[in-house]
Amino acid sequence: MKPRKIKDNIYWMGFVDWDSRLFDSLIPLPDGTSYNAFLIEGSEKTVLIDAVESSLFYEIEAQLSSVARLDYIISLHAEQDHSGCIPRILSMYPEAKLITTPKAKGILMDLLHISEESIITVQDGETLSLGDKTLEFIFTPWVHWPETMVAYLKEDKILFSCDFFGSHIATTDLFVTDEGRVYEAAKRYYAEIMMPFRKIIKKNLEKIAAYDIDLIAPSHGQLYPKPSFIIDAHKDWVDGPVKNKVVIPYVSMHQSTKKMVDYFVASLVDKGVGVEQFNLVVTDTGKLAISLVDAATIVIGTPTVLAGPHPAAAHAAFLANALRPKTKFLSIIGSFGWGGRTVETLAGMIPNLKVEVLEPVLFKGSPTEDAFQSLETLAETIAAKHKELGLE
Ligand code: FEO
Repeated sequence: MKPRKIKDNIYWMGFVDWDSRLFDSLIPLPDGTSYNAFLIEGSEKTVLIDAVESSLFYEIEAQLSSVARLDYIISLHAEQDHSGCIPRILSMYPEAKLITTPKAKGILMDLLHISEESIITVQDGETLSLGDKTLEFIFTPWVHWPETMVAYLKEDKILFSCDFFGSHIATTDLFVTDEGRVYEAAKRYYAEIMMPFRKIIKKNLEKIAAYDIDLIAPSHGQLYPKPSFIIDAHKDWVDGPVKNKVVIPYVSMHQSTKKMVDYFVASLVDKGVGVEQFNLVVTDTGKLAISLVDAATIVIGTPTVLAGPHPAAAHAAFLANALRPKTKFLSIIGSFGWGGRTVETLAGMIPNLKVEVLEPVLFKGSPTEDAFQSLETLAETIAAKHKELGLE
């Protein structure tokens, strides 16, 4: 795709990836993604903010073909999807310097073997004059690596935010046109990589509140001409109240755990509690991650396999532990054939979750009236706990 004009002397470059369905060999991409880079032509200096991964060099090489001189490349974030082709761009423009944070400098040298002489580091709040335009660098660590920063173009009030406020969407619409679609994609993106760092993300949000921003330009997905839409969404995800909702990631082998889940879901709904259930055999883990952002309770449903939880349930517990959601309560339900240590194993897998563990419901074999009564009691407990928190 050709460079696209955002404003006078400010252009989108990069690659719209319609085909990829997995990011980092880990994260589902139901709607593809984009890798955004930005060219700013000041009256004295020209800069490129971020780049694309190395395999896409041919794309940005063509987009830069009419750019005679590049003074700086700015790396807001060292991960390879934005930095991979920087060495080859530096070869195209031997006069250019790479600007980044002191922390990113070492990472870029390690990952891409960029020479130290090519790199200039900046401090938090430092500015760079391009002549008639000025960039200010604002350190926003842990979105989602320790070295990340954003850059604010003062005269045009544009915040270049790299992964911060990003979303995985492939589209030819440069700017947000469908807020509902972008809201879900951005929430998925936040849940998958930023939720574990939400306390620091909160500080970053407070930090950028001091800036007058007309446009947010992330390095994945669409640009936000109404910044409050995505900033307010992040504030809610980071620090808003949990919802009257139970997330149930479950797996069943011989339908016993499934029968328990079905009964339990009906019981919770009957008591006014919302449920999102995920059969882990067919679940898009990104959808599960989204639901974890604001659920008050997680209940894992699992049969016992080889004396422990089903591996799919163990994976869900591992994921929840890694993502560190705001969840308040957790329990486990399921069926076993002859014995095992399912509860102990799962409980040992979630040390990061600051939750109250509610009495698990594990029964032998196909569920009986006793099992259903225990599930009823667990549903009552959850409904009461939610009510105590003022959740409706
Ligand atoms: Fe889009 Fe953390 O890289």
